[in-house]
This record gives sequence, structure tokens and C-alpha cells, in this order.
Amino acid sequence: MYKIAVVGVGRVASELLDILDARAFPIEEITILGESEDIGKKITFGEDLTLTIKDIAKYDFTDIDFAFFCAGVEAAKKYAERVAQGGSIVIDCSSAFRADPQVPLIIPEVNLNELAEYRTKGIVSSPNCTTALLLPVIAPLHREFEIKRIVISTYQSVSGAGSEALDELFEQTRGIYINQPFLETKKVFTKQIAFNVIPHIGSFAEDGDTAEEKCLVNETHKILDSRINITATSVRVPVFIGHSMSVNIEFDSHTSKDSVKAILNHSVGVGVVDFNADEGYVSPVEAAGEDKIFVSRIREDNTLENGINLWVVGDNLRKGAALNMVQIAEEIIKIM
Ligand SMILES: NC(=O)c1ccc[n+]([C@@H]2O[C@H](COP(=O)([O-])OP(=O)(O)OC[C@H]3O[C@@H](n4cnc5c(N)ncnc54)[C@H](OP(=O)(O)O)[C@@H]3O)[C@@H](O)[C@H]2O)c1
Repeated sequence: MYKIAVVGVGRVASELLDILDARAFPIEEITILGESEDIGKKITFGEDLTLTIKDIAKYDFTDIDFAFFCAGVEAAKKYAERVAQGGSIVIDCSSAFRADPQVPLIIPEVNLNELAEYRTKGIVSSPNCTTALLLPVIAPLHREFEIKRIVISTYQSVSGAGSEALDELFEQTRGIYINQPFLETKKVFTKQIAFNVIPHIGSFAEDGDTAEEKCLVNETHKILDSRINITATSVRVPVFIGHSMSVNIEFDSHTSKDSVKAILNHSVGVGVVDFNADEGYVSPVEAAGEDKIFVSRIREDNTLENGINLWVVGDNLRKGAALNMVQIAEEIIKIM
């Protein structure tokens, strides 16, 4: 049994608590940590446990076995290394340590072989939500046919930007029906998100790519294979939960729709729903609350020698963050 601390009380933390409970993670004691006005608030865990949010700044992590950091880059940079040096294993879902060569960036279905490196710094990073949803799908295809190039367009839900973003979509949608000027509800997004799409997630780099697009490229290289050419366009869409991706893949060796489907049908954590019929595909609304990543619209791209198109959808809060973090902890327990 393990002593657990969860840092943050936002969307990912809330999902993480549900998943720890549902998967019966071996918990001896659980503590929730936050800051400012969250301190002292109550949160329920499981059927009958009420937890009071404690102040992270005053908390002594000494006895904690696993510290799940779900509180963003700033909190991770401020506390995670100190907590890990104190002997806790830190699992962080922010981008704070993802590029650190001494911190493994893990998706259990893809690169479990690198997990033992957690011992170097006591920290494991969980990837960006789009990376966590893309790689379990493309890794088994890469092993079989070798991927040369990927062109990907994402359709990312607002929950990927946290609790405030969910509120903004709700308020703006309501505001449109009552003629409220959208600037009154604009906090997180740069443009109106209700009934709109925004081709901009994260800051712009000099070459015009956004931070989100760079994340997908860099994390694919770190986790799967640095030789894969990948180019992305990340778009925010007015969906509450569930990220979707249109993925065009060029392989090195001969592929067919049937061979891709056969591999994905046996891939861990992946579900194939692919019928050329009404409702023969998965949309984000159906993927929300599910652990699996769904693949639909599998097609050969006849403009390439070995090209395949996929539609990939998954719950960004679960496999995109919280579920992946819990899976990492479960795998660490096996090798501790
Ligand atoms: N949402 C996703 O789909 C997703 C997927 C993958 C990774 N992630 C990563 O997961 C992290 C959390 O995302 P989220 O969607 O849960 O965001 P969120 O709903 O905005 O929640 C963030 C939580 O962290 C707390 N927090 C912020 N700074 C803190 C500090 N210094 N000390 C303690 N608590 C602090 C916030 O408290 P206040 O509200 O009081 O500020 C809030 O409870 C982010 O790093 C995000 O990049 C998210």
C-alpha cells in the first residue's frame, strides 16, 4: 500500500482521483494539495472519503511514495525536484520536464522499457494529451511498416486548456443566445471559442509553429523515433472533452487498409470502429469518459505509394493525462 499526494484540484486531478479509485490503486493514505483559495475546501474520494485540500507550500512530502503533479508547469518547476529529492516518486503531467534527457517521458503502451530511468531523478513525465493519444495508435504500425512521414491536424477540446477554459465555452455559448458581447467572457482563448475554431494553441515560435505543434513533434521523437518526419496543425474546437486528429501517414513498406486494421485490432488501449456507414466512426462525445483511443475512417491514401489516413479520437483528460499517469505508477510498482 502506498501514500499518495495529488497536487492540483483541476480537471486532470479530478479525473485522476476517479481513476485511482476505479482501478483500486493500492492506497494507504491520500492527500490533496492546492494553493490560495482552494486550501481548506473539501473533495470526495471514492464512496465515503472526504478530503480537505492542504496547502502545498507547507506540506512535508517526506512519507509520500507517489506525488502526482497535476498543477501546471509553474508548480512542477517550483516543487517537483525537491519532492523527488526527498524520496517520493513524482509523476508530472506538465511540460516542465518532458524535454529533460534525465526524465523519462512515458506512455506505457509504447516505451515501458524506458521507465526504469525514473530512478535517475525520481521524476517521470507524462506527455502532452495529443501525443498520449496518437502514439499508442501509430507505434504498432511503425514497428511493422516503419513510418516515414506524418501530417496531422488536431481538433482539440477546451478541457485540454483546463477548468477555466471549460467555463469560457459554457459562458460564451450561453452569452451568444442572450446577445452578451463575447469580450465579456474572454479569458483563456484569443478569439471567440463558442461556435468557432481557433488554429492557435500555445505560444508561436519563430518559424510560425505553436508550442502545441512543437510538443507533438518533439515528444514523438523522444518517445517513439527521432527519424519520423512529422508536421502538425493544432486547432482548438468548441468541444468540452475529447481530442480528435486527422492523421495522414506515409510508410516505408507496403501497407493496406486491412493490414493496418488487423494490427490496430490487436493493439493495447486501442479500439477500432470503422464502418462506412452512418455512426460507423467515433466522435469526441462518445470517446469522453472512455479509456480507449478509438480509430475510425481507416483509408488508403492513393496519392502516396504507402499512405494511410486515420481518424483518431480519445479522452484528453483520461488517456491524454490522468489515466496515463496512473498507468505509469502501476508499472513503477512492478519494478520498484
Ligand atoms: N487538460 C488536459 O487535457 C491535460 C492533458 C495533459 C496534460 N495536462 C496538464 O495537466 C496540468 C493540469 O491541467 P488541468 O487541465 O487539470 O488544469 P486546471 O483545470 O486549470 O487545473 C490546474 C490546477 O492546478 C492548481 N495550481 C496551479 N498552480 C498551482 C501551484 N503553484 N500549487 C498548487 N496548485 C496549483 C490550480 O489551482 P487554481 O485553480 O487555484 O489556480 C488548479 O487546481 C497542466 O500542466 C496541463 O498542461 C492537461
